[in-house]
Amino acid sequence: MLSYQHAYHAGNLADVHKHALLAEALDYLVQKPKPLSYIETHAGRALYDLSGTEATKTGEAAQGIRRAEPWFAPDHPYRRALEAARARGGSAAYPGSPLIARTLLRPEDSLTLAELHPQEEAALRAALPGVTVKKADGPALALSMAPPEPRRGLILVDPSYEVKTEWRQMPKLVGQLHRKWPVGVILLWYPILASGAHRELTRGLDALGITDAIRHEVRFPPAREGHGMQGSGLYAVNPPWGWDAAAARLAKRFAALRP
Ligand SMILES: C[S@@+](CC[C@H](N)C(=O)[O-])C[C@H]1O[C@@H](n2cnc3c(N)ncnc32)[C@H](O)[C@@H]1O
Repeated sequence: MLSYQHAYHAGNLADVHKHALLAEALDYLVQKPKPLSYIETHAGRALYDLSGTEATKTGEAAQGIRRAEPWFAPDHPYRRALEAARARGGSAAYPGSPLIARTLLRPEDSLTLAELHPQEEAALRAALPGVTVKKADGPALALSMAPPEPRRGLILVDPSYEVKTEWRQMPKLVGQLHRKWPVGVILLWYPILASGAHRELTRGLDALGITDAIRHEVRFPPAREGHGMQGSGLYAVNPPWGWDAAAARLAKRFAALRP
């Protein structure tokens, strides 16, 4: 039974970290005139309303994108995706990762998105007509597709870590995907938690021994008193050229937020 709903967290500081660096990676990949594959294992609904009850209840977007938007120049790919979401959903709209990808990718690129939650899946289909959406287990789908055609491309793995076994399962998945699809860019997101629960995952990632990989983490003040998330992590296999520099620039912005 899935209970996580990203609408409560859309546009928070973890999304800013994940979405800005996803946008950087895709923007680099589309510079070559060769088509590419984009896969998401945990897609969510693609278009969020930051004025809705869920987002206003937590206030996370107010601490997140509302504060962070000026960090990015108007022509930054993340800002372009924000503008595309607003053009569709009004000034309070926010793009999830599938909409960021749809905005930045080209018609010749192929998108495959997995989402298991029935409501989220229906909203995703409505937001992105014509895109391949599967109501399927994302990790299993990704393994069955790897290596995709075209071979150039990126997979985003963005679980909610509702299920404790995901801390162990995700490094294993990354290792399997990398073996099956050595040229694929793999981006895995994870939270940094006060409880330290994420350390099982980071130990597993480090143990993979993948040479062309970066683990990039930022810390931020908790969204509210007692909130367990203290930061955001991205593990990137085969990061595109310049991605590490973009990540370092963003890290400086996050560091300035710390009390
Ligand atoms: C963190 S949210 C995704 C957010 C989205 N990637 C974004 O950045 O906009 C995780 C999503 O994964 C879905 N989910 C959970 N387990 C799944 C699974 N095994 N396969 C596919 N989707 C799953 C949840 O319903 C939820 O919508």
